[in-house]
Amino acid sequence: MSKLGIFVNRQTLSSSEQITAVIKCRDVAESMGHTVEFIFPVDMKKIPKLDALFIRANTDPMNSTYVAARMAQMYGIPVIDDPESIKICADKINMYMHLMKKKISMPQTRFLRKKELDEAQAAALFLELGSPLVLKEPSTSFSARVEKVESVEDLLKVARRFFKLSDWIVVQEYIESRFDWRVGVVGGQLLYACRYIIPSETFKIQASVNGHVVYCDVESVPADQVPPEVISLGLEAGNAIGKGLYGVDIKESNGKLYVIEVNDNPSLEGGEDAHYPDMFGKIISYLMTGDARGYAESLSQKALDYDGLEGGLSLRSDSALCSPSALTENESYSYKIDFSER
Ligand SMILES: Nc1ncnc2c1ncn2[C@@H]1O[C@H](COP(=O)(O)OP(=O)(O)O)[C@@H](O)[C@H]1O
Ligand SMILES: [Mg+2]
Repeated sequence: MSKLGIFVNRQTLSSSEQITAVIKCRDVAESMGHTVEFIFPVDMKKIPKLDALFIRANTDPMNSTYVAARMAQMYGIPVIDDPESIKICADKINMYMHLMKKKISMPQTRFLRKKELDEAQAAALFLELGSPLVLKEPSTSFSARVEKVESVEDLLKVARRFFKLSDWIVVQEYIESRFDWRVGVVGGQLLYACRYIIPSETFKIQASVNGHVVYCDVESVPADQVPPEVISLGLEAGNAIGKGLYGVDIKESNGKLYVIEVNDNPSLEGGEDAHYPDMFGKIISYLMTGDARGYAESLSQKALDYDGLEGGLSLRSDSALCSPSALTENESYSYKIDFSER
C-alpha cells in the first residue's frame, strides 16, 4: 500500500468544485488501495514520508507549491507538477521556446524587449503579424494579462503597462476561434479532451467585462469525437514540456491548428472528466507506477477478482469509479468554471 499526498492550500479549499475534485481524487486513490493524506503548506515536513505527491494548488516558482515540488524531487518522490514543468509553464517565453524547439504549430510569435519598444517597432509588428495582435505579459495566468490591440497607440499603451512587470513581452498573431480545445495529457498519454467555449463578450476564456467576470463553458468531448490531429498535437505539445500532467490549449482556424498554451496544473474540476471517468485513476497510476495505462489494467483485474462477490468491487454501471460515463455519447457536459479560484 502506498501513501499519496495531495497538496492543497486555502485557495484550493475556497472553491466547492475544487474540494469536490480533490475528494474524488482521494476516493479513487483509496479504491486503488492507497492511503491518502491532504498536505497543507505547514505540513511540508511530511513530504519525505510520502510515496507520491499530487499538487492541487496554484503552482508558481515563487510560492510554496514549488518548494513542495522541489522537496519531493530531492527525496526521489514522484510529483505532479514537477519543478521543471512549474518553472517552464510559469513563463510564457520559456514555454513558447520549448514549443518552438520542437517545431510545434503555434501562432506567429515575437518576443519584444523593453528597449525595443517604439512607434516604428509597433507599426512593423502589425505589418508582419497582421491586425489585431495579442500581447501577453509572460507570467500571466487565468487570462489576466492577455490583451488584444488594434492600433499602434493601443499596443504602446498595453506594452508599457506589461513592461512594468517584465523586461520581455509576447506579441502574437491573433487566431480567431469560437472555442479553445483543451487536451489533458499525463505521462505522454491522452487524459481528456474538452472545449472551452469563449464567452461572447470577450476573446479570452475568462475576462472582466464591465466590472463583472465572465467565464467559459466547459464541454467534455469523448475521444472518438475529437479530431485525431487535435489529440496528437496536444500530446506533442505536452511532450515538448515534459512527462507530467498538462492541459494544452489549441485553437482551430481556417483548417489549421495552433497551440496557444501548455498549462501545468490544469483545471480538473470544471467537468473535464465527464466523458473520462478514469481521469484521476490514470493520474494516480502514473504517479505510483510511471504508467497512466496501469489504471485500466488494474480495474479489469479487480473486476475479475471480485465480480459477483457481495461487497466487492464490480464493474456495475452505477459504480462511480468504473462507470464508462455518466453521459451518453453525444451529450456534452457544460459547466461554468471559475478559474480565478485557483
Ligand atoms: N494568439 C491568440 N489569438 C486569439 N486568442 C488568444 C491568443 N492567445 C491567447 N488567446 C486567448 O486568450 C486566453 C488566455 O491566453 P493564454 O495564453 O492562455 O494566457 P493565460 O496563461 O493568462 O491563460 C486563451 O485561452 C485564448 O482564448
Ligand atoms: Mg491560458
